Amino acid sequence: MATIITNGEIITASDRYHADIRIDAGVITTIGRDLPVTEVDTVIDAAGRWVIPGGVDVHTHLDMPFMGTMSSDDFYTGTRAAAHGGTTSIVDFAISFRGQDYDEVLDNWMAKARGKAVFDYGLHMAMTWYDTPDAKAGVLSCIERGVSSFKTFMAYKGVLGVEDPELFDFMRDMGQLNIPVSMHAENGSIVESMQKAFVEQGKLTPEYHGLSRPSGVEGEATASAIALARYADCKLYIVHLTCQEALDAVREARQRGQAVYAETCPQYLMFDDEVYRRPDFEGAKWVMSPPIRPKGHQDYLWAGLADGSLQAVATDHCPFNFETQKQMGRESFTKIPNGAPGIGDRMGVMYTFGVKTGRIDVHKWIDTCCTFPARFFDMFPRKGTIAVGSDADIVIFDPTTAYTMGVDKSEHNCDYNAYEGMQGYGSFDMVFSRGRLLWDHGEWKGSAGMGGYLKRRAGGAPELVEG
Ligand code: URP
Ligand code: ZN
Ligand code: ZN
Repeated sequence: MATIITNGEIITASDRYHADIRIDAGVITTIGRDLPVTEVDTVIDAAGRWVIPGGVDVHTHLDMPFMGTMSSDDFYTGTRAAAHGGTTSIVDFAISFRGQDYDEVLDNWMAKARGKAVFDYGLHMAMTWYDTPDAKAGVLSCIERGVSSFKTFMAYKGVLGVEDPELFDFMRDMGQLNIPVSMHAENGSIVESMQKAFVEQGKLTPEYHGLSRPSGVEGEATASAIALARYADCKLYIVHLTCQEALDAVREARQRGQAVYAETCPQYLMFDDEVYRRPDFEGAKWVMSPPIRPKGHQDYLWAGLADGSLQAVATDHCPFNFETQKQMGRESFTKIPNGAPGIGDRMGVMYTFGVKTGRIDVHKWIDTCCTFPARFFDMFPRKGTIAVGSDADIVIFDPTTAYTMGVDKSEHNCDYNAYEGMQGYGSFDMVFSRGRLLWDHGEWKGSAGMGGYLKRRAGGAPELVEG
């Protein structure tokens, strides 16, 4: 099965040029001018369009139990929606709770994905306990099984959060293995105390979600995580960074030469805390942690992306339906399931509001949304770029079109979209995963279970495990 994509303009994190691409058995085998189209099954004319790597989203929560409910996209609906918006691989979070056997958690997450994911996926593990030999053995077993990154939480005290001694012990061990530790950086003690005070005062609307988790609380936790990682000699990756204080801490550490990296998410670049003051409980749609920040932080984050202080853009896709699930918090903001949809929006939002506005260039778009995440999370060079030997995870993108963002466009299994009514630019005309067409000009061509598990190894290329 050979395919040739002709006449397109290839854009990667570093290059931009016109060439044809030949794909054999799902892998890019040749890139060059005027490739012969004999002995080829399919020829695709990409004239006037860009040929870009499929997006890599390293922060998703599919089919996840959280705050008394489940995120509303599973591995089929979530990956299908992602592909519709130009993303062709993810790393999802397997979520453990204290005392749970890590191998069982991993088995469970693999079962959720198997037969459903429409493209290839890796898994991070949430490290929620590390204080017994069993827990430590479980972590090592996950690493053997292809989990080369872990997320830890300073927030969500008593549920997912871990205290410093356990965290430091974990970081020391991961440092020795060259495994990065990802951090949800919010000081859980301060959040807990502020939430309690608001609840006692009867301040229960979504606005108090933001007010109970101010940016300084994220800044403090980010600095603390950086200090722990520094003395543990461990690579640190800050997830969903939202604010100036946290970015300053990351920047300062990087300037000192510490291995600290950070991602932000489109919602933190696009919205300010005005969303929480919207009437009719509308603010619940943006209840996520960390919260959407006051005006000013957004421009600071855009500048951080442009100057390289932030290296990745992921979604933290964690959808809950407004009419049913978000209503669980009608009586108190503390009960609103935290999270929002975005897996299918990311590439388009970053093109529209980043590239088209001149805040970032096309190469930064590809780097932050595809190449850096693939590299950092051990999926490169299979994923994240267009090169001979890479998987043909390719998107044919028309930069000239316009559309209206919203629920109708997004394909998420969720009844609202954060960008409803906004004007977007560009279309993901054809989306391929290992050379197989998933979406063709808005028509679904894929099927459940086409994706395989990416068994990742620290510092190496991943092995693909089918089915
Ligand atoms: O509000 C969020 N971010 N929900 C998902 C869980 C997490 O902290 O990433
Ligand atoms: Zn988090
Ligand atoms: Zn998350």
